[in-house]
Amino acid sequence: MKTSLAFRARHLFKKIIKYFCPGIFPDRATFESVAQSASAFGCELQYMMDINSTSHWHSAEFVARFGGYSPPGEERTLGRIRAGDRVRSDMLMLLLRQIIVRQVPGALAELGVHRGDSARLLHHYCPERKFYLFDTFAGFAKSDFAKESLKMGFNEEQQFTDTNVRVVLETIAPRNAHAIPIVGWFPASVTPEVAAETFAFVHLDADLEAPTAAGLDFFWPRLSPGGFIVVHDYNSWPGARLAVDRFLTQNRAAAVPMSDKSGSIVLAKI
Ligand SMILES: C[S@@+](CC[C@H](N)C(=O)[O-])C[C@H]1O[C@@H](n2cnc3c(N)ncnc32)[C@H](O)[C@@H]1O
Repeated sequence: MKTSLAFRARHLFKKIIKYFCPGIFPDRATFESVAQSASAFGCELQYMMDINSTSHWHSAEFVARFGGYSPPGEERTLGRIRAGDRVRSDMLMLLLRQIIVRQVPGALAELGVHRGDSARLLHHYCPERKFYLFDTFAGFAKSDFAKESLKMGFNEEQQFTDTNVRVVLETIAPRNAHAIPIVGWFPASVTPEVAAETFAFVHLDADLEAPTAAGLDFFWPRLSPGGFIVVHDYNSWPGARLAVDRFLTQNRAAAVPMSDKSGSIVLAKI
């Protein structure tokens, strides 16, 4: 490949500057240097799962036999949540994989879509299932704020108003007719069609106590055995945690806390 004159001039210029001022251009990133800058942001480097094809420990034989992220013999669209939480992205895809492999009947739903980031991953991994996307698409409702038992500043200030249905549809494009936005305040937004549904996988990400409690009350009786409800923020937003803990005192569910950034909890129906 021929290098252009401009490229060579830039390279030479960089070399000269580096010679006279060695601190200006940092050395090539190493594991240690990246780990150090990550820790400055309160992060640690996370290993990729062994089934990730770009992981150092990837075993092609294992994946060929057992399927890896995708069910054996199938290719699924693997997604990443833009906020960069790899553990959360992997967790969501692996739970969907489980309902596909176990043939758990039912639709998918998400309560708390915001701009469609997690919805994109769910819809692209599992486009053959109906997927209901519940949100006001205009942020939190005042009445829900008022019901928070534990006010902590951030759960009063956050709004999520920077969205609308068009933004979400653009985010999840390309999409098929299975992705159905349900606009309005939940649970009043529930349509007769949705009320008659059975669900295999539900992502509750509405942050506040009232919609989380309403989501659990609505979806749990409609969840198929073998299905999952993931409640995001169980270990970060107080209302989400209070709603789940209260629900678990009254309902028999396997509840598995996860180590994604905001500490989801997975409720599994047996
Ligand atoms: C944290 S955001 C969702 C983020 C999204 N799941 C993602 O990962 O990109 C929370 C969303 O819940 C929605 N929400 C909260 N309470 C609601 C309610 N009662 N009815 C409908 N939507 C609600 C808000 O409008 C907001 O868009």
